[in-house]
Amino acid sequence: MQMHIAVIPGDGIGPEITQAAKMVLDKIASVFGHEIAYTEVCAGGAAIDRFGDPLPAEELKKCQSADSVLLGAVGGPKWDSAPRRPEDALLALRKALGLYANLRPALLTPCLAQASPLKQELVQNGLDILVVRELTGGIYFGKRGKDAVSAFDVEQYSDFEIERIARRAFLSARGRKGCVVSVDKANVLESSKLWRSIVSRVQQEEFPDVALSHMYVDNAAMQIATNPSQFDVIVTTNMFGDILSDLTSVITGSIGLLPSASLGDSSPGMYEPIHGSAPDIAGENKANPIATILSCAMMLKLDFGLASEAEAIERAVNGVLEDGWRTFDIKDNDKPYIGTAEMGRLIADCIK
Ligand code: NAD
Ligand code: IPM
Ligand code: MN
Repeated sequence: MQMHIAVIPGDGIGPEITQAAKMVLDKIASVFGHEIAYTEVCAGGAAIDRFGDPLPAEELKKCQSADSVLLGAVGGPKWDSAPRRPEDALLALRKALGLYANLRPALLTPCLAQASPLKQELVQNGLDILVVRELTGGIYFGKRGKDAVSAFDVEQYSDFEIERIARRAFLSARGRKGCVVSVDKANVLESSKLWRSIVSRVQQEEFPDVALSHMYVDNAAMQIATNPSQFDVIVTTNMFGDILSDLTSVITGSIGLLPSASLGDSSPGMYEPIHGSAPDIAGENKANPIATILSCAMMLKLDFGLASEAEAIERAVNGVLEDGWRTFDIKDNDKPYIGTAEMGRLIADCIK
């Protein structure tokens, strides 16, 4: 197969982790007989420095004409007080590509149980939670403004936006344990009351075979930390999903492990780790590339329909972790650490 992938290295650790991920994709291409053409896209802080714009139209076009998009991360303290921020590029990409569904699977393999900050009895049998985060609506994209003494951001959802993300969550649940927990703040927010009623209606009318329950977001955070194995699929709003997925990631060992797929109703999708640009360790060959590498596995499966290739990556990652290899962020007893490039190479070498 011919694959055309737009790669946005971005800022901070972005260039290092996308480099490692390309090494793995190249190995997949050679073992399975595919051809990959990469187009490098400049976005985020790098594009502010080069063009004065976090996402110039030409760079966006490169993404729109690719089959799929791989993103490292954007942002950093250098641009914190810039009039336009690197993060704007990410939000603009999600909106322009219509990527309303963000799948963030948090999978803890038993060999990483020691790396979880939770008590061993909570994680020793592994964890498998899928956060389905709404990605192009809510407070991130509502009306906003400020004056001399105040500022506001409006959380607004339409029934259409809620219906389509609910469908994604129920469809995902059908291929898993068949249980969805919808997370909201319906005891306070109007938008959450609508969220709850639409999610319930979609379940009753279209997915009676899937179990649905509702949870307030504050309780959900507590439940994830104290009884994570009760969860299968969590569906929630843009901001609640952002916050809860950092939590589900860290209980599975490290934020450096958790991939994501951002999907619309057509290609290209965008694939990125859920973590940020980690400015504190940028340029030191320390960052964990596994979240980005697993994002490539999601890309191969979801944008290209290459399930065996995706499984080959997942097997390679598991094999390397089971053999005891760790990057420094995975706090696992006395295991020695290796760097970003070495981790990428080991995983690529495991694909045969
Ligand atoms: P962060 O995720 O970048 O870092 C949080 C902590 O996790 C840091 O200590 C960092 O070193 C560590 N970490 C993150 N990824 C790691 C990896 N792969 N390997 C090892 N350690 C890792 O979050 P932050 O510090 O809040 O944000 C830094 C910048 O990144 C900000 O500008 C933020 O807006 C941006 N950001 C971008 C994205 C994205 O591009 N998708 C996502 C989140 C944050
Ligand atoms: C993420 C990030 C982004 C978000 C930021 C950088 C805009 O935190 O992808 O999780 O909040 O969506
Ligand atoms: Mn986030």
